[in-house]
Amino acid sequence: MVRRPTAALDLAGKSVKSECNFSAPLFRTHLFMAKITYITHDDKEFAVEAATGTTVMENAIKNSVPGIEAECGGACACATCHVYVEPEWQPVTGGPDIMEEDMLDFAWEAKPNSRLSCQIKVTDEMDGLVVRIPARQA
Ligand code: FES
Repeated sequence: MVRRPTAALDLAGKSVKSECNFSAPLFRTHLFMAKITYITHDDKEFAVEAATGTTVMENAIKNSVPGIEAECGGACACATCHVYVEPEWQPVTGGPDIMEEDMLDFAWEAKPNSRLSCQIKVTDEMDGLVVRIPARQA
């Protein structure tokens, strides 16, 4: 708990000093930004700052990273947001769930490190994440 002095008026309108109790979590916005690097099939790099809780797909679209189409808007129903997670980052991003795995069957040249970027939620631990974008989408 953080105690902060504030200016206040007493009943007579005279300025008095008082203290208000602030609960730090109420006033602190946790908006950690993780750096994500997208590498296109022709080795062009796009580094973006991604807020935790957003998806890798959303950040690609928001920053106009080429090669991510996301036709279904993140509903795990199109496989046009396909990326390859760099092997060293696979333990951090985790693998696809059953629904995503089924959809990856429609992705172009899926590999063991394939993921649908709309299903990767950015966490603090993903700061530095690198994903590669295939030459084309489904
Ligand atoms: S945006 Fe359609 S599956 Fe990811």
